[in-house]
Amino acid sequence: MSLDKKTAFITTPIYYVNSSPHIGSALTTVTCDIITRYWKRLGKPTLFLTGTDENATKVIEAATRAGEDPKRFVDGLAAEFQRTWRLLHIEYDDFIRTTEPRHIAAVHEVFNRLRSSGDVVKGLYEGWYCVADETFFRDSDVAEDHCCPNPECGKPLRRIQEESWFFRLSAYADRLKQYILDHPNFLQPEFRRNEVLAFIDQGLRDMSITRSSTGWGIQVPDEPDKVIYVWFDALVNYLVGAGWPDHPERFAEIWPADIHLMGKEIFVRFHATLWPAMLMALGMELPDIIYAHGWWTIGGEKGGKSKGNLPHPGDLAARIAELSGADYEISVDALRYLLIREMQFGLDAEYSETAFLQRFNSDLANDLGNLLNRSVSMAGRYLNGMVPPPQPAPDGYDHLLNNAVTEAGDALGAIQMNTAMEAAFRLVSRCNKYIDERQPWRQAREGDDQAVRETLYTCFETLRVVAMMVQPVMPVAAQRIISSIGLDLNPAEVPWQSVGKWGQCPEKPLPSPIPLFPRIPANLLNRTTENIQESQTTNMSDMPEPSTQPLPAVSVAPFPSNSTITIEDFAKLELRVADVIDCKPVPNTSKLLHLRVKLGEEERDILSGIAETYTADELIGKQVIIIANLQPRKMRGIESQGMILAADMNGQAIILVPETRVPSGSPVR
Ligand code: MSP
Repeated sequence: MSLDKKTAFITTPIYYVNSSPHIGSALTTVTCDIITRYWKRLGKPTLFLTGTDENATKVIEAATRAGEDPKRFVDGLAAEFQRTWRLLHIEYDDFIRTTEPRHIAAVHEVFNRLRSSGDVVKGLYEGWYCVADETFFRDSDVAEDHCCPNPECGKPLRRIQEESWFFRLSAYADRLKQYILDHPNFLQPEFRRNEVLAFIDQGLRDMSITRSSTGWGIQVPDEPDKVIYVWFDALVNYLVGAGWPDHPERFAEIWPADIHLMGKEIFVRFHATLWPAMLMALGMELPDIIYAHGWWTIGGEKGGKSKGNLPHPGDLAARIAELSGADYEISVDALRYLLIREMQFGLDAEYSETAFLQRFNSDLANDLGNLLNRSVSMAGRYLNGMVPPPQPAPDGYDHLLNNAVTEAGDALGAIQMNTAMEAAFRLVSRCNKYIDERQPWRQAREGDDQAVRETLYTCFETLRVVAMMVQPVMPVAAQRIISSIGLDLNPAEVPWQSVGKWGQCPEKPLPSPIPLFPRIPANLLNRTTENIQESQTTNMSDMPEPSTQPLPAVSVAPFPSNSTITIEDFAKLELRVADVIDCKPVPNTSKLLHLRVKLGEEERDILSGIAETYTADELIGKQVIIIANLQPRKMRGIESQGMILAADMNGQAIILVPETRVPSGSPVR
């Protein structure tokens, strides 16, 4: 991206409104959102355009199949796209619909200009048309079965013979080829650029850009019996979003586009050939980068919602929330991360829910979530809940952070989100390892307070830098991390260039910890919608375990033989998992804590004699196991409605917690 005055402009394709969005369309839109958020951090004014392609034959056919009025049908789906993008934390600036007057007027303007310049001429079209792909084919492209030659489609073609307007694409072949050769970054990735050059070398034919009207689509100016070919209409949206033709000053600030992003199936013929040729014919500058990414595939084939094999992003985020217990907004961020992390951008990737969930556990719960939890809870235990004052960086650590920020920025600039996230998560792993090496619990036991401060300060600095690095991908989670380490900042407003500098965490009290990415229990991981075999190959025992320290032996009195109880006796106990939502010391006692817990919808107060082991703050956000049907008892003027279970370690109370986070109120048996 050029860092001059111009507004940085990025676009998604406009999506056909013949079916709902799915994680394939979400991939393109999320990527554009990530790049835009990164550009904002570089201080650039930005324009992010997305929208819906509504004039296609397949759209009207889908409306007819659904038995709906076409206008109502497209309105409904356009609204669903907008809702889905908002739900995915996508901050587009403009949403264009090709049924809008501004778009129709611009398409007419393009058509008229090119007709006047002789780039659009009348002729007779005879050939084949694929409704599913909205693409014309000549006889020599089509096999005897008269099915669509696109291997991903293969649907029966329609024979068309009619008078039509043609765009003189052939006239631009040489200029276009030369332009591509002169601008090595124009078409990306490089191997796709070579496909385009080969396509041009086969010879570009003039393209039929109108067809007989079926009552749906943009009418050809002055010819009510014809409509404009949907691709010729759709591509113009990029100009309209930039303010053309009515707002020339705005247009001059925005055009040419910095990045057009799309899937590979609409790259060679449309975005990399037809579109630049149209722009050349209009005398307009060509976009900086046209980038084709690969697909989310199922069984090696392009996945889609109409095929019913790629999930709706909202459903997948809800599934992550349900399985992990993370709140919905965080699960949405996790999905954004997983969408770009499980794919080498530019290439296809096979979609697997299991792989997504495993990656959630490994990167987000076990690595990043764990680093945050352990850093905050150790500061609670050893530093009175404070971020220590700035400490010197351990040997070379400041360079490590700084270099990672630069590397991630370069990767985001090159539309390689995956590489950017690798750089961030390498820091997370490094810091978790650093904690294990430094053993702050040992440093604390040995009374080496300075060493503890240095160790934990390094953790907070790492968390700060990582949060700032992942912000374009996970904006809500980044804000949570930043707030959890006591910083009063909006990461979206922090310039990217300033992030890597060591020592920006000031001495601050830490707020009560809230778990960010709770781990998905192993048994639930096996219950994905796919074959469970896959989930068993990545063994959860490979995950790092918390550090263990030798424990003192506990003296246990033998059980008297007559002290057994029956299963019926046990069944009288109502044991439940509860979330600690608040906790404070009970005044004038050394042992009692006053906990506020949540069991499903219900909230209760419980007094517990665990203050010698735990501070109030460190319990907030934890899960505990309580006896829920214990007779309430008043102590110190507070009614305690239950009892918390804890192991008795030579008089010290160690609370029992479920091995993984479970829904609050879950019964314990
Ligand atoms: N309406 C045209 C685009 C016109 S742009 C001027 C169109 N629409 S579409 O609804 O079919 O959307 C296609 C785009 O959705 C792809 O280019 C890609 O960005 C995204 N994807 C749809 N399915 C996908 C996958 N299975 N995987 C990844 N991206 C996918 O074509």
